[in-house]
Amino acid sequence: MCGIVGYIGKKNAYNILINGLKRLEYRGYDSSGIALSNGTTRIYKKQGKISNLEDFVADKRVDGNIGIAHTRWATHGEPSDENAHPHQSQNGKITLVHNGIIENYAILKERLEEKGYTFQSQTDTEVLANLIEYVYNKIDNRSLEEAVRLSLEKVVGAYGIIVMCDDEPKRLVASRKGSPLVIGVGDNEYYIGSDATPLVEYTNQMIYLQDFNIAIIEENSFTLKTIQNNPVTPEIKRVDIQVDQLDKGGYEHYMLKEIYEQPTTIEQSFKGRIAVDGKSIVLGGLIDVMPQLVKAPRIIILGCGTSWHAGLVAEYLIETYCRIPVEVEYASEFRYRTPVINKGDVIIAVSQSGETADTLAAIKKAKEDGAIIIGVCNVVGSSIPRETHAGVYTHAGVEIGVASTKAFTAQVTVLTLMAIQIAKEKGSIDQSEYEILIQEILEVPNKVRVALSKEDKIKSISDKYSDAVNALYLGRGYLFPVALEGALKLKEVSYIHAEGYAAGEMKHGPIALVDDNLPVVAVAPKDHYYEKVVSNIQEVKARKGNVIAVLNEGDLNLKEMVNDFIEIPSCHPAISPLVAVIPLQLLAYHIALNRGCDVDQPRNLAKSVTVE
Ligand code: F6R
Repeated sequence: MCGIVGYIGKKNAYNILINGLKRLEYRGYDSSGIALSNGTTRIYKKQGKISNLEDFVADKRVDGNIGIAHTRWATHGEPSDENAHPHQSQNGKITLVHNGIIENYAILKERLEEKGYTFQSQTDTEVLANLIEYVYNKIDNRSLEEAVRLSLEKVVGAYGIIVMCDDEPKRLVASRKGSPLVIGVGDNEYYIGSDATPLVEYTNQMIYLQDFNIAIIEENSFTLKTIQNNPVTPEIKRVDIQVDQLDKGGYEHYMLKEIYEQPTTIEQSFKGRIAVDGKSIVLGGLIDVMPQLVKAPRIIILGCGTSWHAGLVAEYLIETYCRIPVEVEYASEFRYRTPVINKGDVIIAVSQSGETADTLAAIKKAKEDGAIIIGVCNVVGSSIPRETHAGVYTHAGVEIGVASTKAFTAQVTVLTLMAIQIAKEKGSIDQSEYEILIQEILEVPNKVRVALSKEDKIKSISDKYSDAVNALYLGRGYLFPVALEGALKLKEVSYIHAEGYAAGEMKHGPIALVDDNLPVVAVAPKDHYYEKVVSNIQEVKARKGNVIAVLNEGDLNLKEMVNDFIEIPSCHPAISPLVAVIPLQLLAYHIALNRGCDVDQPRNLAKSVTVE
């Protein structure tokens, strides 16, 4: 949520910054801006996509070897040129970009106004720029580092910032609390990003800043401290992201590319964890906490959005196979209520980005209450894995499409491995059932390929329903979370209002919506809920609703009954979410395309929600 980039070195900063912004555009795309310095600072900013900024800058000076840049997801103040970052202090000394929210900005602003400061924007960030300038002018031995440090002591909220000062033109100061910041180490040059994606084409040597770190960066020197002014030894990590992972790879959209990557990404998430003979699972990251998992009186799964849906699938799996009570909760609710955490409770935090502010805050709270925290995250080195006691990475690769697809199936794969392994170690399933489930997982990539091969059919179905105003998604058991996920995908990318429901719950309310305009997507493979879901479909048909069924190949009976159908290969019910979700992703994609929506960057959304 908001992306920031910085560069200091000998190269032309503009190209690096603008390319970096494009890599981070998925984090926010309502306005963007750039500040370049070659002694004096020039700022260019524009509302809208980064291409608007590029057009605006086309006939401007872009020299300078130092610069900072920002792509915004608005929090304070509407998207506009004025509210775009970088922001400059009143007297032009300080320029900064910021990701996060300064919660006490109103009071700080009031105090600065009393000192004669005026403001050009509605943002919290401009307040910070002016605060740093004010402090800079007040302190005896003026230094940007000191001014930033002292100012941040007064700030309540979250920030990832990069600051430039006209009086110290060969230096950048960066700091974080709550919002991620990564420094790429080059050869007498440094790159800064909200994550590693804008940096990997220049270096694979990264320093991940920790909360309350402050970095003082010059072309030939790098100093890391805490904001209490204590020295910190920087830990340089090697990051292995291939640049081609960041491109569309010939697909029209990242979302489509990522949908099609799933046979591979699902395999990546179980590869090396299932023994070659298919008889056992090793989850290296959980070895130390397995005894606690096996004995856990309760497991609480926390996440948001799609990750929460993956958590719901895990609830069904863990309760079925491990006989451990599970609660799945929105991290945003958990963090602010007074949840009861009992001795031995284990928390599983599910997050693609590993940076979601609500999930991060929720696990910090649970940790304080003594819970054991396990992470299921995709982005290696991100904040949530750093807060956990143990964890398993999902290895789905970089997900750029704002609507999550391959991250979901990777999460479900890992959570399935976890459930089966806990059950095995607990003795709640026998070896033969364990091996059957492992075999089913091994077959998923091929079944997903078959599901993907139905794209043409899905596309033609999408043509019939693209003008819908509402849609209902139904599923039961393991496929109830899939119905929720299908509905979320549709609303995110096509802006059609969609509800996911447990099919049996339809008669308790949503059935009132059914008429001949309502598409109802029913996920109805032949599992032990099949007859029940068919009855629910009959109830919809009796009220003239249009049913699109996701059904098993060869299900002639159901094909006859419904308006449209999409076939998927049959598989074990516990594994079926991994296959059944594929047509729903493709359906949402094609409907959105037909409606002319920006599928990769849907309005109002951003990936990696680092504000609450
Ligand atoms: C949906 C989507 C969001 C995220 C949610 C959690 O397509 O992308 O609902 O799933 O913001 O994000 P992570 O998984 O990064 O914690």
